[in-house]
Amino acid sequence: MVYRNKKVARSSDPRYFDLRTEKMVQGGDGMARLPDGRVCFVQGALPGELCRVELTFQKKDFTRGRVVGVVEPSADRVAPRCPLYGKCGGCSLQHLDSQKQAEYMARVERENFRRLAHADLPDDFVIHVGNSWGYRNRARVVLQFARGGECSGFAFREQESNALIPFENCPVLTPALNAFLQGPARNIFAPGSSSRRSSRPGEVSLNIFDNGKGEVSYFYRGMPKEEFEKHSVSVVEIGGRKIESDASVFFQSNLGLLPELVQSVRSAVDEGLSSGSASNDWLIDLFSGVGFFAALLQDKFKRITTVERDEGCLKHAGVNLSVTGSGNTAVENVSAPAEEWLASHVVDIPATLIVDPPRTGLPGEALDAIVRSSVKRLIYVSCDPVTLARDYAKLAVAGFKLERAEGFAFYPQTPHLEMLFVLSR
Ligand SMILES: C[S@@+](CC[C@H](N)C(=O)[O-])C[C@H]1O[C@@H](n2cnc3c(N)ncnc32)[C@H](O)[C@@H]1O
Repeated sequence: MVYRNKKVARSSDPRYFDLRTEKMVQGGDGMARLPDGRVCFVQGALPGELCRVELTFQKKDFTRGRVVGVVEPSADRVAPRCPLYGKCGGCSLQHLDSQKQAEYMARVERENFRRLAHADLPDDFVIHVGNSWGYRNRARVVLQFARGGECSGFAFREQESNALIPFENCPVLTPALNAFLQGPARNIFAPGSSSRRSSRPGEVSLNIFDNGKGEVSYFYRGMPKEEFEKHSVSVVEIGGRKIESDASVFFQSNLGLLPELVQSVRSAVDEGLSSGSASNDWLIDLFSGVGFFAALLQDKFKRITTVERDEGCLKHAGVNLSVTGSGNTAVENVSAPAEEWLASHVVDIPATLIVDPPRTGLPGEALDAIVRSSVKRLIYVSCDPVTLARDYAKLAVAGFKLERAEGFAFYPQTPHLEMLFVLSR
């Protein structure tokens, strides 16, 4: 048996159990059962394994625990690569062989969908896979400063506890981002520079972005305008287009695999247009960020509307969807909550509708408005399969059928997955 902590090896201690994992569940935990029948969600346990588990949380109907020793390991267990595994909270699936992660996630998503949406994912559901390490081109880090004002290091902020986890090299960040942190980032606030640190003297939250060519842009709150223009704005080349963005707003964080998602969205649009289930009269891109999907589909439509809540995206959407580059397409970029825009605009033609909401999924008003509209084909890009399944269940009641489902392993070593659903009615 491999124990992480010898002190907890005593089987007589009532907080510890040897548990056999039945399966992996959404979020990456292993599911096992205590001798009293209660379910235990075990962090770090793989299906089939027998693990020594320390209970960390107990309720009447379920419990949580963490692996403190592996009695019978799975053949797919590997040694975590990062020394911060289990501490940083970011890459909690590192104990599972990278080559197997998509297979496990596919099983989890099939079950998740059955449980939450009472439907089956299509037989041909696949997960597209890219690089397992060094893939992440966007991150938020905290720069830390010593008394004398010099940068003393950087850290991730743990989401749940707010604690700072210092690191030197993060193996999922792109090499350019790691190199930036080791070098130029340390000098941003060096004495004599025009950069200004805000209220908390000991630390600064910094968004960093690698545009795929190793050019790194950054953003921090309170950044002076000239510095923003010089160091925050970036251009990404994708699908033969240049897309402008900046490090303060949302942009996709796995540029290596992004072309495959773009290709799948393009073919979903093409199928809709050629089958007649959607018209080329109007493309509506909701939760549009800097107009990412709309810009890549601009050549196919007579009219385009993008709707995004974050005003900082608007100027980029204007550049990315400039009318001059697009022949006769009429473009309207709106800064508003998508649900409000949908509820107050009558969509009475079979427009092509793309939605790409945050993890919370589609707001209820947006779902209602889609159901009431004349939209027959919906392309739903999701970064949370749980809210996607919930929203699908409501759309299914309103007559939408799932034509195609694809997964995209945008966040290897973590239990997160990007999904694409193509729905029609
Ligand atoms: C997952 S991102 C997708 C952005 C874009 N489609 C892309 O691929 O770059 C979700 C976007 O929705 C925006 N957002 C969040 N809630 C919103 C809302 N209620 N209405 C409109 N936009 C919203 C966020 O600011 C973010 O830009």
